[in-house]
Amino acid sequence: MKKARVRLGKRSYTLLIGSGLLKQTGLLLQELGFSDRAIIITNPTLRRLHGKTLLQGLDDCSFKVSILEVPEGEEQKSLETAGRLYRELTNCFAERTTPILALGGGVIGDLGGFVAATYLRGVPLVQIPTTLVAQVDSSIGGKVAVNHGQLKNKIGVFYQPKLVVADIAVLKTLSDSALSDGLAETIKYGVIRDAEFFSYLERNIEKINAFDERILETVVFCSAKIKGEVVAKDETDLGLRNILNYGHTIGHAIESVSNFGISHGQAIAIGMVAAAKISNRLGMLPNADITRLKNLIARTGLPTELPRLELAGLTQAMKHDKKVLLGRIRFVLPRIIGEVFITDEVPISLVEQVLLGG
Ligand code: GLY
Repeated sequence: MKKARVRLGKRSYTLLIGSGLLKQTGLLLQELGFSDRAIIITNPTLRRLHGKTLLQGLDDCSFKVSILEVPEGEEQKSLETAGRLYRELTNCFAERTTPILALGGGVIGDLGGFVAATYLRGVPLVQIPTTLVAQVDSSIGGKVAVNHGQLKNKIGVFYQPKLVVADIAVLKTLSDSALSDGLAETIKYGVIRDAEFFSYLERNIEKINAFDERILETVVFCSAKIKGEVVAKDETDLGLRNILNYGHTIGHAIESVSNFGISHGQAIAIGMVAAAKISNRLGMLPNADITRLKNLIARTGLPTELPRLELAGLTQAMKHDKKVLLGRIRFVLPRIIGEVFITDEVPISLVEQVLLGG
């Protein structure tokens, strides 16, 4: 098992990464001072896959557990579902000290986190991420939210968990495409902050694709550690934390113009390559680094080039991105592998040229 710490003063917390952690959750909760009760928020599939193991560990430590189920799907990240969960929490007499365990991927983590942040003005939250994206990104850093109409994550707060438990064994239940979606985010961490980690991914990508638990533990640990360090320096996303959006300015636009037919990981992969090319055309990132990035992404099974999408719609969508400041589109660009900078001085003609394969 590996451990990293998100240092936020009194709200600091530990990220635990290792195989077989689900069944230790009861002990881990006791170590944090919890006893007696716990509420699990999850979906029916995850309950079927992992509920028994988690419940066994909690039962061994004499926790009385209530399970609140949320159907699968992004549309559940809504105020309506949050409202239903508040009613169910009241029905099962959840108290201010009763921890909520969010067992799931991004939807459950964001929704369960939002409910934990707002019910009784905040009850303790433990994130138990079950996808690679959630283990390396969304479960860490306290961004919890629901969608509002078509607007993603519009209603939310920063609310840090008490603990993040990333059980590497659960990743075995993921599809290949869900794994590669998460790998896009891990490659991102290498590019923005850690050239050595990038090389580690290059050396081990075949083992990662084959779900090698020992290698995956290191991958999740290195990624989670970087995310935790960035969050500790800029919890509310006013400066440094923006670097986590490398590949996302173009990536979000691709997702949106494709009507989410292109997955987040695929869109981010294309966005990372495009941002690398923009940096190169501006005289920074060397050609050799673009080749390394493209090769690594391709070896995960993710795309590196834009499929046919309407370019006008794409640049329009970029202007609506949350990183637009005073009407200028901000890009996170790699200077070299391991270091990025933020700029709002990229001519839109250059973005279009790069996206057209130039
Ligand atoms: N996923 C980006 C962030 O947490 O800031």
